Amino acid sequence: MHKVTLIPGDGIGPEVTTAALRVVAATGAEIDWETMEAGADVMTKYGTPVPDEVINSIARNGVALKGPITTPVASGFASANVMLRKRLNLYANVRAARTLPGVRSRYDNVDLVVVRENSEDLYSGLEHIVVPGVVESLKIITETACMRIGRYAFAFARKFGRKKVTAVHKANIMKLADGLFLECIRRCAREFPEITYDEMIVDNTCMQLVMRPEQFDVMVMENLYGDIVSDLCSGLVGGLGLTASANIGEGGIAVFEAVHGSAPDIAGRNVANPVALILSAALMLHHIDEHAAAEQVHKAVLSVLADGSQVTADLGGTAKTTEITDAIISRMG
Ligand code: NAI
Repeated sequence: MHKVTLIPGDGIGPEVTTAALRVVAATGAEIDWETMEAGADVMTKYGTPVPDEVINSIARNGVALKGPITTPVASGFASANVMLRKRLNLYANVRAARTLPGVRSRYDNVDLVVVRENSEDLYSGLEHIVVPGVVESLKIITETACMRIGRYAFAFARKFGRKKVTAVHKANIMKLADGLFLECIRRCAREFPEITYDEMIVDNTCMQLVMRPEQFDVMVMENLYGDIVSDLCSGLVGGLGLTASANIGEGGIAVFEAVHGSAPDIAGRNVANPVALILSAALMLHHIDEHAAAEQVHKAVLSVLADGSQVTADLGGTAKTTEITDAIISRMG
């Protein structure tokens, strides 16, 4: 029996989490879910969107499946997502984008992985008003975090038989901060001579991704670029409703979640696409060595997408969240 922390989140979180739990249960994998609340609802009660018991639960269990959590824009509390990543030192965010058979998208040959540094950069939350009308927001880049993410990206490429790592940067403008990032990634590249290494400036990267996405394999970048570029990559393969991700920390702690947010515009209507979280749950099953269950989920999802008759509105279908979930379960054999 595996003990796994479950954070349903808010917005569409509870709907897609319920779907993922049903699919995981159908595999027969024995999981004891420890459900924890985080986000706006617990804020009033505990004064923080991420109470200590959530952190302790994930640290104890070593693995979590998490639904999206809303972060108020401009004012209100700090991001629960950033807080979780910081407190658990989840330094690597891994987001794969691969063409899915049956899913309409502009390309049929995308197969890339974005490795995003998750712990620093402009997400350090260090902002202040210098004088009214002037704000300073600090971009923090450290050698330690750059070496850590660089080694993670190359080790990931080696482990999964990938051929190339591209460092994405803006060192032409941020000569010190992104210069340090590049210098570190170059050092990491020398430790993995069998992996091809190249570099690309982030704005050109966006254009290249849209024009010729097949040239990319593993991409490594700082936090802000990774946040933006990985959503672009989701768009290349059919949208946010399909992209899974893993947040990896030191000592092997891992939090699996969809790339998308809480989608308040469609919350509570049973129309959200649960596939991204279901595929995140499949990654989680691999992580806890339930490989057969993970493959079963993955195959069933691919089969439902390829068939196309029971997909949600974001993929051009009419199926409800519960209906696509039923379809996936019915194909698990
Ligand atoms: P979003 O990802 O929630 O939504 C963007 C667009 O994609 C919306 O039109 C939405 O309806 C659609 N969409 C997203 N997921 C979908 C799904 N599974 N099925 C069908 N359509 C889907 O991004 P947005 O609107 O920028 O953020 C909303 C809230 O989510 C914000 O408070 C943000 O901070 C939070 N957020 C949380 C994340 C997390 O918990 N990891 C990640 C990203 C955003």
